[in-house]
Amino acid sequence: AIERTLSIIKPDAVAKNVIGQIVARFEKANLKVIAATLKQLSRAEAERFYAVHKARPFYKDLVDFMISGPVFVQVLEGDNAILKNRDLMGATDPKKAAPGTIRADFADSIDANAVHGSDAADTAAIEIAFFFPESNIHTR
Ligand code: CMP
Repeated sequence: AIERTLSIIKPDAVAKNVIGQIVARFEKANLKVIAATLKQLSRAEAERFYAVHKARPFYKDLVDFMISGPVFVQVLEGDNAILKNRDLMGATDPKKAAPGTIRADFADSIDANAVHGSDAADTAAIEIAFFFPESNIHTR
């Protein structure tokens, strides 16, 4: 089925100047960018976006990292987009990510892991709405 998912290119990958290389992987996999913005998250925004992880020991470091520089936030649309994006990203920990995945090729650590992607349909809808009103999403 055609799905939408939220993708964030994190501050480490933006700083490495590989936004285009990462987006090219999505496009080669037939995912379309239907919304995008380069954005500096405030601490409050990052805390809200990752509120589900509030009780986890890595929460503070995660929020600190996500506000360390601008992020490139996109909505990707395509067949099976949520799982397809997760396959393209590879495992959360780049040490465990399969060769050829975005995290294997661009990530440095479990915190600086290059990309975020929604993990399921319900979270994708919530995460997309967090960043983009429907009027800023352009299906084509
Ligand atoms: P992300 O997909 O953005 O969702 C939460 C992030 O927390 C995750 O990617 C990692 O970058 C970060 N993180 C740090 N430590 C852990 C951990 N032990 N388990 C899961 N995520 C972690």
